[in-house]
Amino acid sequence: MAETIRLLGMSGSLRKDSFNTALLHAAQELAPAGMTVEIADLSAMPLYNDDVREKGYPAPAQALREGIRRADAVLIATPEYNYSIPGVLKNAIDWASRPPEQPFDGKVVAIMGASPGRIGTARAQYHLRQCFVFLNSIVLNRPEVMVGGAAQVFKDGKLTDAPTRQFVSDLLTALSQAVARQRVLARSPAS
Ligand code: FNR
Repeated sequence: MAETIRLLGMSGSLRKDSFNTALLHAAQELAPAGMTVEIADLSAMPLYNDDVREKGYPAPAQALREGIRRADAVLIATPEYNYSIPGVLKNAIDWASRPPEQPFDGKVVAIMGASPGRIGTARAQYHLRQCFVFLNSIVLNRPEVMVGGAAQVFKDGKLTDAPTRQFVSDLLTALSQAVARQRVLARSPAS
């Protein structure tokens, strides 16, 4: 029997009607059998402060770190703010990224994003990829899920556009394959 694949979703938007959180909900709906998608709550994350970290991780940061550690892969839905990554998401990644045993190390990560504009968060996604170079994550190259014209492809918080739903499904398939490859590597005698 195939092993379960646990994804942790992170949305870069705290907005109630966020297109990006809705994109994660679409991933929950489209997840194949055996895949679960939990969505991290980033709403109570304090602003990063290394003095605070040295005294111990605040509860929301600790919860995120543990959630990433438990997950087989992380699925990020990012808005684009001023051609880059929203502070909410970068701040959460910064908290997760510090020692000991930073949990993004060797973790499979997939990125998607939605915007009412035409570029579909492409610029933010490429900035986000750069962060994961330093964190030594395994970021999927393809498919790129850059959802433009978000007001047209979501209706009442649900992703209704068939081609966009197919992109999300394809990303989930690619994630499953990447997690399976990592599991084989982790079990090989040379690792
Ligand atoms: C934006 N928005 C935006 N859109 C875009 O395509 N490129 C950009 O550079 C920006 N910049 C930007 C900055 C700030 C501060 C805000 C608040 C918004 C619009 C943005 O894509 C839109 O608000 C989305 O709806 C945000 O994502 P959620 O909240 O729907 O997930």
